[in-house]
Amino acid sequence: MKIIHKPDDLRCEIEKLKNAKDCSSGLVPTMGALHDGHLSLIKRCVNENNISIVSIFVNPTQFGPNEDYAKYPRTLEADSVLCEKAGVDIVFAPAPEDIYDEYYFKHKETTLICPPYDTVNKLCGKSRPGHFDGVCTIVGKLFNITKCNNAYFGQKDAQQLFIIKKMVNDLYFDLKIISCPIVREKDGLALSSRNTYLTPEARQTALNISQALFKAEELFNKGIKEADTLIDTVLAYIDKPGIEAEYAEIVSLETFEKINLLNEKAIMLVAAKVSSGSATVRLIDNIEL
Ligand code: PAF
Repeated sequence: MKIIHKPDDLRCEIEKLKNAKDCSSGLVPTMGALHDGHLSLIKRCVNENNISIVSIFVNPTQFGPNEDYAKYPRTLEADSVLCEKAGVDIVFAPAPEDIYDEYYFKHKETTLICPPYDTVNKLCGKSRPGHFDGVCTIVGKLFNITKCNNAYFGQKDAQQLFIIKKMVNDLYFDLKIISCPIVREKDGLALSSRNTYLTPEARQTALNISQALFKAEELFNKGIKEADTLIDTVLAYIDKPGIEAEYAEIVSLETFEKINLLNEKAIMLVAAKVSSGSATVRLIDNIEL
């Protein structure tokens, strides 16, 4: 396995491997601090492609000024060991200066891929203005650098996945997006790199999120189809001392637009803020209904 930092070196290495193997390539874009959720994507990528690439890059343009860019866990050494064990061919771990030019660092502006307003300014985008522009920009760059055939994303970031699929469609990126199911701890907590910020007590409180979603699923399976009833149940379940829901919403799985009655494939999404010592940790989760 090679660890590569420069986009041009990555392009050369992929070309070399492609000539040698005449084959398909898969990319798993990540911000590192890899957990079993990432590993499920990575294993699938390794199984389905001759060349597998994992990018590890904490992307500054997707973080707001008061978010956790500086303290986001950076664990390249441990991540590389996991990738090597999983059979990855290349870890691409650029520095911000390898991805963004001097203009960006001077003016804090760069060429962006901006998805339509209505797709990005709701749910997570409401409290994270500019977040999905940053995500699409880095993902677009990674697609262009790697020219991968397949790219793997987790369903936990369901709005991100929807927006990236739309970007690929709108901009004619020549690759397939493969979505992989949420991986949960035994007690239901969805795996996230941000779980590392949780104290043991906060982790216990955070369980309210997945449990609220399972409760909604139970009610839905019993025949409750009104979105408002399911949402109210989830909000009441989550809001306890030490945890506050930022949103709970139900949207169509196909259009990501709000629905009132669940007569089509839908997804319920939740974001909540958990107090953890002196910090607040923002977590997201979702369930298909
Ligand atoms: O989901 C993530 O970890 C990031 O948003 C991604 C897709 C790697 C882009 O930085």
